[in-house]
Amino acid sequence: MNTQSIIYMDNAATSWPKPPGVTEAMKRCMREAAANPGRGSHEMAVRASRVLFEGRKALARLFRIQNPNDIAYALNTTQALNTALQGLLKPGDHVITTSLEHNSVRRPLEALRRKIGIEVSYVQTNAQGTVDLSKLRQEIHSRTKLIAVTHSSNLLGTITPVGDVGAIAKAHGVKLLVDAAQSAGVLDIDVGAMGIDLLAFPGHKGLMGPQGTGGLYIHPDLDLEPLMYGGTGSSSESPEQPTARPDRYEAGTQNTVGIAGLTEGVKFVLAETTERIHRRELELTRQLMEGLRGIPGVTLLGPGPETERTAIVSFLMEGFDPSEASFILDRQFGIAVRSGFHCTPLGHQSAGTTETGAVRASPGYFTAESEIVSLVEAVKEMMATLRKTN
Ligand code: ALA
Repeated sequence: MNTQSIIYMDNAATSWPKPPGVTEAMKRCMREAAANPGRGSHEMAVRASRVLFEGRKALARLFRIQNPNDIAYALNTTQALNTALQGLLKPGDHVITTSLEHNSVRRPLEALRRKIGIEVSYVQTNAQGTVDLSKLRQEIHSRTKLIAVTHSSNLLGTITPVGDVGAIAKAHGVKLLVDAAQSAGVLDIDVGAMGIDLLAFPGHKGLMGPQGTGGLYIHPDLDLEPLMYGGTGSSSESPEQPTARPDRYEAGTQNTVGIAGLTEGVKFVLAETTERIHRRELELTRQLMEGLRGIPGVTLLGPGPETERTAIVSFLMEGFDPSEASFILDRQFGIAVRSGFHCTPLGHQSAGTTETGAVRASPGYFTAESEIVSLVEAVKEMMATLRKTN
């Protein structure tokens, strides 16, 4: 497959391409450090442990986490969110979340509601995905344990004012879980300043690592019940899961080679800075939105281009089913976008697109302006062809 000719606009699902150092670091790790981390004291096992610790240190720097061992690696944001939700919540607990959430928050919450009897309140956002913080505050009651919010909607690109939500949570003695699936590596995250108790993040999106990587920051005062129990290479004589971090939340062999790649991705983000990455992505997003909104029959979802947002542009093309549109964009124009419901039926409910779904284009840091032009031209041509045939 000739990847040179692909115009890749699906960075919200998985970022691509990766910084060149990522693949190199994974190859090096495979050659030199791919033994079992934390198990055995031979040279290669020690090198593997170092790979994991290097990654933790880089992540801690990025999210201003004081102790890198408060980060547990996970396969993806979904696993991290499940560790947080299933580990924290007990029967009778109340959780406040929003109508913007991904199924990776909604489904574990609904399963916990069914299995152990938690209470869940969904605060409805407006069509642009803005959360009314006074509504969120009103939902808090004596049994409220947790507020769980996405930092940025994977459908609309709306940014949640996480620091303000953190202040509300703190004032009421409630914990805050942030889903950083669309923000890690793109928006500034400072867990202390924002009052974040639990931060779930993917490695394969804005952090520019490979799939199968991600993690969960757990505030040092929180003791979650682990999601998985098993070997950690520590306290092996005990039948109990160790209490020491990160082992408590990292049963089984970790994805050392993946973490080597992730570390390189995080170092790239640290060097470029989230500020520069966000600014660049915002420029591309604005260019794309300005181009699309001039095309008759195209409707943009979410906040307008003038608003501070992430690089997610969802839209409808009158006369095209979104899946048909993305198929034509791929096959005829070589442009990769995602269509459908984006695992967020609640988000589509907020946006008013429950019946249709949408086409979603998500440029990334490596997207060129000329690629944005190609996408706009392709949509223009598709709409013009449709008008001619009708
Ligand atoms: N959650 C990812 C997306 O929005 C996969 O596409």
